[in-house]
Amino acid sequence: MEDFFTLRTVMWERDTVKMIDQTALPGRLTYRSFTDWEDVAVAIKTMVIRGAPAIGVAAAMGLALAALQSKARGREALLADMEKASTGLKNTRPTAVNLFWGIDRVMRKAREASAEAEVIRWAVVTEVKEMAEEDVRVNRKLGKIGAELIENGDAVMTQCNAGALATVGYGTALGVLRAAREAGKFVKVIVPETRPALQGSRLTAFELKRDGFDCTLISDTAVGYMLSAGRVQKVIVGADRITRDGYVFNKIGTYQIAVMAQRHGVPFYPAAPHSTFDLSKTHEQVSIEQRGFDEVVRVKGRRIAPKGVSVANPAFDMTPPELVTSIISDRGVIGKPLQENIEALMRN
Ligand code: MRU
Repeated sequence: MEDFFTLRTVMWERDTVKMIDQTALPGRLTYRSFTDWEDVAVAIKTMVIRGAPAIGVAAAMGLALAALQSKARGREALLADMEKASTGLKNTRPTAVNLFWGIDRVMRKAREASAEAEVIRWAVVTEVKEMAEEDVRVNRKLGKIGAELIENGDAVMTQCNAGALATVGYGTALGVLRAAREAGKFVKVIVPETRPALQGSRLTAFELKRDGFDCTLISDTAVGYMLSAGRVQKVIVGADRITRDGYVFNKIGTYQIAVMAQRHGVPFYPAAPHSTFDLSKTHEQVSIEQRGFDEVVRVKGRRIAPKGVSVANPAFDMTPPELVTSIISDRGVIGKPLQENIEALMRN
């Protein structure tokens, strides 16, 4: 059986984008194939693929498909078709900055490539293949850096899925745990189920179990108890965007874990690659995605709340820098003062 060290969440194969259908997990591990950028946009929106680095690469590949689909013969017409696809792909999920990073990188490559449409097409396809390889390389580097913080026997709480399934491969927060294990340390993972879309139970528990980790699934409401009972030594989560003022945007529920971790003296570490840092924004300028109410009022299609009840479904929250111990990145561990050190390490 292939493990998540080798399995890829998203890949480019013979002018086709292939991705694991994460809506079918944990029941079935299947790939879906895409040749149309608009279908890739729908897949991102409906969370067939999700997780900040994974959607960054998927959107970039979607844009490469748009370049192949375009009938344009000249540079300007091709770039115009690609711009249209960029807008469509950007209008899928607003919070993860990697989405915008991935699309802008491919557009930049296309503009710089050459005057000839065919050369541009070749250049963007080459670029997206490289982005996929780079994602895994960067995660392994981040993992190695973060693993230094883990002690043998630690129980580490995470949130959502910041694993191989949220990236092209290896993972960010879970990459740190993989690297700790590769370094010979034993780690136990505490996995909150992560309502309402259940990425913790459907994806993280699946991925960790498949790779033979000692992992314990808990309900989201058990987070405070586990921290207060001394059953967690560290919290390591992913991030969808880290702004220049040191705020960490991640899956809803992360903020309450950070508050409780501080209350109980448990270190709280977000782990993120450089593509997740957004030096162009402060926290007030970031939109939090609001998702459909069905995710809250239904479980597996079955209604669990009365008709007509009003619902709010923010998909992400924001953890302020004072609750963060330090940030694990592929360029090193970023300590306090976060704002200054983020600028120093991520500017370029
Ligand atoms: O809504 P999702 O499943 O895309 O949210 C994912 C998360 O919040 C992850 O923690 C984040 O993207 C980091 S993934 C390495």
